[in-house]
Amino acid sequence: MKTAIITGASSGLGREFVRQIADVFPEVESYWLIARRSERLSELAEALPGKTVACLSLDLCDAMSFMAYQEKLRAEQPEVVLLVNNAGCGYLGRVGEMDTASQTRMVDLNVRALTAVTNMTVPYMATGGSILNVSSIASFCPNPRMTVYSSTKAYVSSFTIGLAEELRARDVTVTAVCPGPMKTEFLDVGGIAGNSKMFATLPYCDQVRVAGGALRAARAGRTIYTPRLVYKFYRVLAKVTPAGLMAKLAKT
Ligand SMILES: NC(=O)c1ccc[n+]([C@@H]2O[C@H](COP(=O)([O-])OP(=O)(O)OC[C@H]3O[C@@H](n4cnc5c(N)ncnc54)[C@H](OP(=O)(O)O)[C@@H]3O)[C@@H](O)[C@H]2O)c1
Repeated sequence: MKTAIITGASSGLGREFVRQIADVFPEVESYWLIARRSERLSELAEALPGKTVACLSLDLCDAMSFMAYQEKLRAEQPEVVLLVNNAGCGYLGRVGEMDTASQTRMVDLNVRALTAVTNMTVPYMATGGSILNVSSIASFCPNPRMTVYSSTKAYVSSFTIGLAEELRARDVTVTAVCPGPMKTEFLDVGGIAGNSKMFATLPYCDQVRVAGGALRAARAGRTIYTPRLVYKFYRVLAKVTPAGLMAKLAKT
């Protein structure tokens, strides 16, 4: 069955992806929705009438979840036309001043889980299929006070470019979307709301528009998609400016 798999589907950008996938990938017959909060996934499933929906309540920071996911793939043998690696978290705070569990959770979710889910899913990707990884403008240069987060997103963008080349011969496209700040639970979960002048001054992205634009960019086979002109300019600036200087400017 032609399947779309979305991690972090229970809120924010992930939920918007699920709502808009049919507009851009009308061939999708079945959805696998992944997150920890199963009741949120069930509510979302009700908004997908006529589709087959599997709600997978998995904690992607727990390696046992990878085994459950692998088992589901083996049992169902899906034809994956779209994989959206969206689950992610970002905590505000300096290295050495915040708890180790939060620092390593960003690596576990944004890097390890994304890598594991992709590695397990690639054998099931359909010819002409798409992988969409959620990165961030934080990937463009190191962001002091969000050093670990920005490093994880640099990995996501770099991983995307390498994987796009690996999968070119199989006609599978890989795209990274790099949004600026969005008003989602991310800001409260990460202790960012009210604690960062940078987040208070930056122009915000609307997650509804980001999701639609990113899905269309994935369908078009673009490798990096940055919503909003101001952040396209920021990406170019970060490319031509020494990283040390950019890090001073990008202090969160
Ligand atoms: N909001 C921003 O300012 C911003 C800017 C740039 C990029 N991004 C990126 O956008 C993506 C989506 O974030 P968002 O803004 O939509 O934030 P969000 O509303 O907090 O969504 C995060 C999603 O990840 C899931 N998740 C968190 N921990 C998980 C775990 N251990 N296992 C499985 N799923 C987990 C959450 O579901 P459960 O809690 O139910 O597990 C939720 O569905 C992230 O990759 C983030 O880094 C966000």
